[in-house]
Amino acid sequence: MSKRLFVIFCIVAAVCVVVIPFAVISDSSGVEDGRVAVAERDEGTKELFQANCGTCHTLAAAGTDGVVGPDLDDRLAPGGNGDYEGNYARVLTAVVCGFGNGRMPARILTGENAKEVAAFVAAYAGQLGDGDGPLVDTSTARKPAPGSCGSSAGADEGDQQTN
Ligand code: HEC
Repeated sequence: MSKRLFVIFCIVAAVCVVVIPFAVISDSSGVEDGRVAVAERDEGTKELFQANCGTCHTLAAAGTDGVVGPDLDDRLAPGGNGDYEGNYARVLTAVVCGFGNGRMPARILTGENAKEVAAFVAAYAGQLGDGDGPLVDTSTARKPAPGSCGSSAGADEGDQQTN
């Protein structure tokens, strides 16, 4: 009986010594994993966003706070500027074609990576507050290929809204 108590004590002690400091340390490590609940399946894409987009863009779900480009939570807020499909197309076009006369360069990501990041942004943009999650399941959501970027040389993508 007392052996059992001892075991329980050890488990409690281990939780205090190992788990709590670990939680504190991982909490304060660099990128702020914010207030948006990100699904396990989206963690890889989140890192793709952090590495390729986060320096310029704020997106709460990715914990990034770049200010070179627009805050994507604001610009793509659900109910404001569209649903998943519309935002997906919009993000993909920006990534593949660039945006604003090259202020955002074209082809930062291509192919599947571009589609995955577009789906991630469309699923999470504007999802602020505790308990919120993705608008769609990114593993089953539609991820159509990008349209063409317009053929005229030097086209000003900033004037195009592909929706
Ligand atoms: C070098 C900085 C930079 C990087 C890196 C960058 N962007 Fe941008 N992005 C911008 C700027 C600047 C604008 C706004 C241009 C304007 O409005 O003139 C913009 C605009 C956008 C828009 C708005 C398009 C619209 O229709 O309103 C989206 C969406 C976007 N970026 C997504 C992304 C994603 C996703 C990535 C990563 C693959 C990314 N950006 C990487 C600078 C960047």
